[in-house]
Amino acid sequence: MKLDKNKILEKVAHHKTPFYLYNLTLLEETLETAKKAAKKYNYHVHYALKANCDERVLNLISQSGFGADCVSGNEILKAIETGFSKENIAFAGVGKTDDEINIGLDNDIFTFNCESIQEIEVINELAAKKGKIAPIALRINPNVNANTHKYITTGLEENKFGINRWEFEKVIQVIQNASNIKLKGLHFHIGSQIVDLSAYRSLCIKVNEIQNWFVENHILLEHINVGGGLGIDYYQPDINPIVDFEGFFAIFNDFLELQPHQELHFELGRALVATMGDLITKVLYIKNGQRTNFAITDAGMTELIRPALYQAYHKIDNVSKQDETSDQFYDVVGPICESSDCFGKRVKLPLTERGDILAIRCAGAYGEVMANNYNLREKAEVVFIQ
Ligand code: LLP
Repeated sequence: MKLDKNKILEKVAHHKTPFYLYNLTLLEETLETAKKAAKKYNYHVHYALKANCDERVLNLISQSGFGADCVSGNEILKAIETGFSKENIAFAGVGKTDDEINIGLDNDIFTFNCESIQEIEVINELAAKKGKIAPIALRINPNVNANTHKYITTGLEENKFGINRWEFEKVIQVIQNASNIKLKGLHFHIGSQIVDLSAYRSLCIKVNEIQNWFVENHILLEHINVGGGLGIDYYQPDINPIVDFEGFFAIFNDFLELQPHQELHFELGRALVATMGDLITKVLYIKNGQRTNFAITDAGMTELIRPALYQAYHKIDNVSKQDETSDQFYDVVGPICESSDCFGKRVKLPLTERGDILAIRCAGAYGEVMANNYNLREKAEVVFIQ
């Protein structure tokens, strides 16, 4: 889907920059494609709310029939408020507080994805107080490399996430002695922005091995949850606005050995919402640096922290220049008092001037949700286009 520069400029005429611009048509098309691809294998997809919590976005996703994957009590409440059904809410997170566990218990959610022995014991105690049986899944650390940025790698033994292989016997003992929890499944999540899909093949092979251990120990599991992490094409969002969901699900169909009647669940965030969002910003100044020219924008790392935090690439387009060739280089930087406040170095753009509008692409996932008000900045508005 090509960037419609005129539509963006129309919005700029009525809204203060910077703002997030969400394309609801692209979102709907993405949801439809994902839904169709998952249906082929009867797979269940939970949307990972952490990627984008905007209400209109959540309403559309819940209306499309997705479940929810939450990492806080507030996300659980938000999911319910925006129409996700309680029995399709998975609750993950390595540090759930007692209050948050109680929110999950009160709402009879699908599952608590448990990450440590102590957490299982606490959930059991809290469920007992309420006279309930908490459905749990064990989040297993499979020690599989996702080949992505180290800050968003989660499935290696060195990471804080999940239960390691050497703890299985102890965990099972704890579960057998806990009368207010019921083990329903196994959960995995190896990382985010995964574009080397062979990592998922490795995950499937690991899940098969782990599942065999449970079968040998006569432990039946109703579901396997392989998490999310499917990456998008940040380099060519116009050519690949929607990821290859079919190819992604086919890997699991080909390599994962499910038990009879066992359900397979996914928790996709970025792949559903990243490309539908752009961060629209105005160039405040052009400044000639020693080695480069700076285009200084009114958006900063406060609106999109990904480049500063993960050295992430986001394509940048000059919306004000319609058909001019990009033959100038700029470091596109924000106004925040940090040198890491840089959206891109040596970005090729047409001749760019004060007042030009830039679109920082694929900001729909982990943009608005990670915004902060450092330097006492205002929260950027969200604007929608169809
Ligand atoms: N499930 C679990 C247990 C997770 O921890 C995550 C993301 C997801 C699902 C969804 O992953 P996705 O499909 O969106 O990749 N702020 C970082 C990404 C952090 C992801 C954290 N966990 C970024 O901007 O790249």
